[in-house]
Amino acid sequence: MLKDKVVIVTGGAGLIGKKFCQEIIRQNGIAVIADISEEMAGNVIQKIDSKGLNSFFVKLDVTSKDSIQEAIKIIHEKYGKIDALVNNAYPRTKKWGKNNFYNFDFEDFCENMKLQLGGYVLTSQQFALYFKNQGFGNIISISSIMGVYAPKFENYEGTEMHSPLEYSVIKAGVNHMTRWMAKYLANTGIRTNTIAPGGIFDNQPQSFLEKYRKCCTSKGMLDSEDISGTLIYLLSDMSKYVNGQTIIVDDGWGL
Ligand SMILES: NC(=O)c1ccc[n+]([C@@H]2O[C@H](COP(=O)([O-])OP(=O)(O)OC[C@H]3O[C@@H](n4cnc5c(N)ncnc54)[C@H](O)[C@@H]3O)[C@@H](O)[C@H]2O)c1
Repeated sequence: MLKDKVVIVTGGAGLIGKKFCQEIIRQNGIAVIADISEEMAGNVIQKIDSKGLNSFFVKLDVTSKDSIQEAIKIIHEKYGKIDALVNNAYPRTKKWGKNNFYNFDFEDFCENMKLQLGGYVLTSQQFALYFKNQGFGNIISISSIMGVYAPKFENYEGTEMHSPLEYSVIKAGVNHMTRWMAKYLANTGIRTNTIAPGGIFDNQPQSFLEKYRKCCTSKGMLDSEDISGTLIYLLSDMSKYVNGQTIIVDDGWGL
């Protein structure tokens, strides 16, 4: 479905990103793992593409314009084109997830806004310049159900887990960035959509998993690969006229 499409996945070495890259390769595309961690990316390439024929690593920091420009240059020199960008990197501060609304650390809030929302905006903007010049391009951003619905705070009771306000604000921002860009980039050959996944299973506490499951319609927490089909659809020409949308993949959690 993605024959010879060159797809850049930021944070491609992480929990969700590596499954995205695996599926892109399975669909005959080329997966460029654009990650800040060379070590993690190396391990992923060994697992998903041991001969290194359909994948490529480029070091990229989504919060640095110079780094993004350098990565675009390297990828262009290697492949001569870029078909799509997947915004998926997940930079966060050391205090991430600990910020309490009643005892708020404003500096930490702003830093995470800059890293995550700012990182998605900056990367999209730099790739959009390249895509505009090229005459085509596709930008897909990974958001979250937290950018669409309010958290179910009761599910976190009795655990160390928390759903911070900044995550909801960042992801709602990502959803609307997509709508804004889709309109702004009209008639440039660039389209852009968002996927808002539900929670991904990563050995969360049992009590949380059980409460979460009760909110869903069949499975509960998803596995990373459960999101990949929607990504492939949005990357492929099957979704050619889908633009500016946020597609929720959450096993009915938000119903
Ligand atoms: N895990 C979930 O339950 C879940 C659910 C819904 C949405 N999401 C979203 O999916 C995306 C990926 O999440 P994940 O769980 O795979 O995260 P992860 O922490 O497993 O992976 C994130 C990757 O981003 C890379 N990274 C960090 N800072 C970077 C930077 N400045 N520049 C480039 N790369 C950088 C890391 O090295 C890592 O490989 C995030 O946007 C997250 O918000 C996650």
